[in-house]
Amino acid sequence: MAKQTSQFVCQSCGAIHPKWSGKCDDCGNWNTITEESVSETTPKGLTSGKGKKIDLVTLSSDTKDAARSATGIAELDRVLGGGLVAGSAVLIGGDPGIGKSTLLLQAVVAIAQKGIACSYISGEESVAQVTLRAKRLGLLSPKVQLASATSVRDIIATLDTPQAGNAAEVVIIDSIQTMYLDNLDAAPGTVSQVRAASHELIKMAKKRGITLFLVGHVTKDGQIAGPRVLEHMVDTVLYFEGERGHEFRILRAVKNRFGGTDEIGVFEMGNEGLREISNPSALFLSNREHPISGACVFAGMEGSRPLLVEIQALIAPSYMSAPRRAVVGWDSNRLAMILAVLETRCGIRFSDKEVYLSVAGGIRVSEPAADLAVAAALLSALYDMPLPSSCVMFGEIGLSGEIRGVSRTEARLREAEKLGFSSAYIPAASPQATAKNSQYKGLTMNIKHVETVHLLARQLFGAALTKKVAG
Ligand code: TYD
Ligand code: MG
Repeated sequence: MAKQTSQFVCQSCGAIHPKWSGKCDDCGNWNTITEESVSETTPKGLTSGKGKKIDLVTLSSDTKDAARSATGIAELDRVLGGGLVAGSAVLIGGDPGIGKSTLLLQAVVAIAQKGIACSYISGEESVAQVTLRAKRLGLLSPKVQLASATSVRDIIATLDTPQAGNAAEVVIIDSIQTMYLDNLDAAPGTVSQVRAASHELIKMAKKRGITLFLVGHVTKDGQIAGPRVLEHMVDTVLYFEGERGHEFRILRAVKNRFGGTDEIGVFEMGNEGLREISNPSALFLSNREHPISGACVFAGMEGSRPLLVEIQALIAPSYMSAPRRAVVGWDSNRLAMILAVLETRCGIRFSDKEVYLSVAGGIRVSEPAADLAVAAALLSALYDMPLPSSCVMFGEIGLSGEIRGVSRTEARLREAEKLGFSSAYIPAASPQATAKNSQYKGLTMNIKHVETVHLLARQLFGAALTKKVAG
């Protein structure tokens, strides 16, 4: 027998509470608990029905690899781990207006061009609005089926009983927060609706072998709105991110059951929609014709792909007891650590100066391998001496001032050389360093191994270093 009860659900973490309160005890967020009604069926004991026997197979048995089909957008395929997997669910999160609908519209048209039947179901825009956008982007395609719907029951009724030969293999739901199940009393976008709607759609996708894309909104603090459980339910979670005022967009995998999670796809938003950037390094390097002080190029890695970015520093005199330190695109704790190492191990004073550090282009760097480039940029800004032109750096700085080796040395160097850099400062501790330059076949750039940050400072700014401490 079904009875109606209500429960109080935290919209942030999905925890269920017996009564309303201002703060969720589970996740600590304020004002996130709302009342939702549920129809509860009396649970039956396991003894009341007989289970079906399930088939067990050995781990060694020959199961077919998941068949993949490329989307035709190389940057999207890279992040998906090589293309679409039938029967999988992909969640794409991102800030409003970042370009999720544009990306999926372009993807759906590219996929349809390969003869795969696609349906794009929008709960946010009318068919006319989607068509208008497609027309403006030159993406009109008779092979893509469009609908504007929000009822999960109607969507499943349409997709689950396809006419022969007309079955959609790729379905886009834009967005999951607008979808609702009519047997739940909660409003669309609430935890119970999002959870139940995704469950039904994913179940249908698995049954029919459909690749399902769900668009998810993100909350103020950057998580996909709704319970974390949504991220557990899908096979792949992608975030589409970018900085306001910059036109590049990064598609990042944070969970992928069918591929790695350290890959990124880079796009540029323009008047003709999103354009793929297959060589992102060029995008993040500023015009380096005239060397300026305080700038250093870092040879980084994003997933399996090398990415060169420019690190910029500015040092200004400070008259405050606690001088300002501001960081954009990097970790402020890491900056504090490098300043402390430079002060203590090299005797270079920053305590009476304001320090500003920024990663050009608006990208975020999270690798510790950027330490060396940050230190060089700081020193170059402090002494107002430009670094040697066309040189790149990478290496992690330890607390004693030693430069530690990082992974993928060769890939970083090759990318730098490809972009016209002629010298590199790299850690002496890198495993390959023992064999010197000979093992980097075909590399003609001048590679300098540095052991400590103090030696680097002496090599680059020897004359300017006032106080010398034995390296
Ligand atoms: P949209 O895909 O609607 O974002 P989302 O679905 O993530 O909310 O993108 C809308 C933004 O993209 C909007 O601010 C305008 C911009 N845009 C362009 O700059 N050029 C274009 O060709 C398109 C289609 C959108
Ligand atoms: Mg949208």
